[in-house]
Amino acid sequence: MTATHLPAAPHVAPSTAALAAIPPARIPALLQAMPKAELHLHIEGSLEPERIFALAQRNGVQLAYPSVEALRAAYAFTDLQSFLDIYYAGASVLLTEQDFHDMAWDYLLKARAEHVVHVEMFFDPQTHTARGVPFEVVVRGLKSACDRAERELGVSAALIMCFLRHLSEEDALQTLDSALPFRDLFIGVGLDSSERGHPPEKFARVFARCRELGLHLVAHAGEEGPPAYIESALDVLHVERIDHGVRCVEDPALVARLAREGVPLTVCPLSNVKLCVFASLGAHNLGSLLQAGLKVTLNSDDPAYFGGYVNQNYLETFAALGLDAAAAYTLARNSLEASFASEAHKAAWVARLNAVFAEAIAAG
Ligand code: HPA
Ligand code: ZN
Repeated sequence: MTATHLPAAPHVAPSTAALAAIPPARIPALLQAMPKAELHLHIEGSLEPERIFALAQRNGVQLAYPSVEALRAAYAFTDLQSFLDIYYAGASVLLTEQDFHDMAWDYLLKARAEHVVHVEMFFDPQTHTARGVPFEVVVRGLKSACDRAERELGVSAALIMCFLRHLSEEDALQTLDSALPFRDLFIGVGLDSSERGHPPEKFARVFARCRELGLHLVAHAGEEGPPAYIESALDVLHVERIDHGVRCVEDPALVARLAREGVPLTVCPLSNVKLCVFASLGAHNLGSLLQAGLKVTLNSDDPAYFGGYVNQNYLETFAALGLDAAAAYTLARNSLEASFASEAHKAAWVARLNAVFAEAIAAG
């Protein structure tokens, strides 16, 4: 064993040479075992068809599909909007605090099994309040599942409230007002739903208010929308992370800026293929984004709809793009560092990540 291939001490980041020596055959197990954060997960997008039907029955809600199989068969999307139509229909079965708790708990059990140590989950209150479900019911049900995950699973979980960009800014401002009594139950706000024709600047005032309130800020941009939406999310909304952001490559100056400023991108490869942003995983630009030095993270978006949870995203993307152990380490470390958790938590998770890699390196 040469000096460069000596296993690193568990708390030390693996060297480039040690990472390069990890055999490709070990990478799938490493992807699954490494501690990671999930930073782009719509909790309503984790509703599996079986849970949708069980909740429909429990709540006496009539669904437009006769069976689980028929619903699943409808998951063939041509773009973001074709997905959103089915996603909002699926969420219509959620009525009670227990429903929201059960949905989040289903996801958190999977997260634990996939070595997700921290999740910042999006929720879409307007989808529910528009049906007469009070904001309080939504946020209390989700938060109780997050708190339970901390206690029972050792998974850290926090909530990010998203505004639906196809609705007006007035509607977003009213949603913020109804959320304020529960300010301590969520850590930030985001912007999701139909991107084209709804630029970030439409929400300048509501994001300015959220900023004054000390909330963390993120926004979907550059999924289907142009690179200019990424710029206005940064310059007008002052977001701390960009959700998706894959269309940044169309503007080299923007790529250089994102790299220079270390802006994290929460990339979701299986989602991008399902929504036809890329023709296949092999055509995905994740490898180029990493090579450009961007702070990329890997996430599942709406796992029940897009063919897999976060580890499936890692496994399939690594296989399709031939990514190596250094990419695995970078993506996991980025996910932990780009989270809104405390520096102490981040340091503890990075130490665990280093230990998992030290073990893989020692195993040769
Ligand atoms: N993009 C925009 N809005 C969303 C998404 C997405 O991928 N998933 C749920 N809402
Ligand atoms: Zn999303």
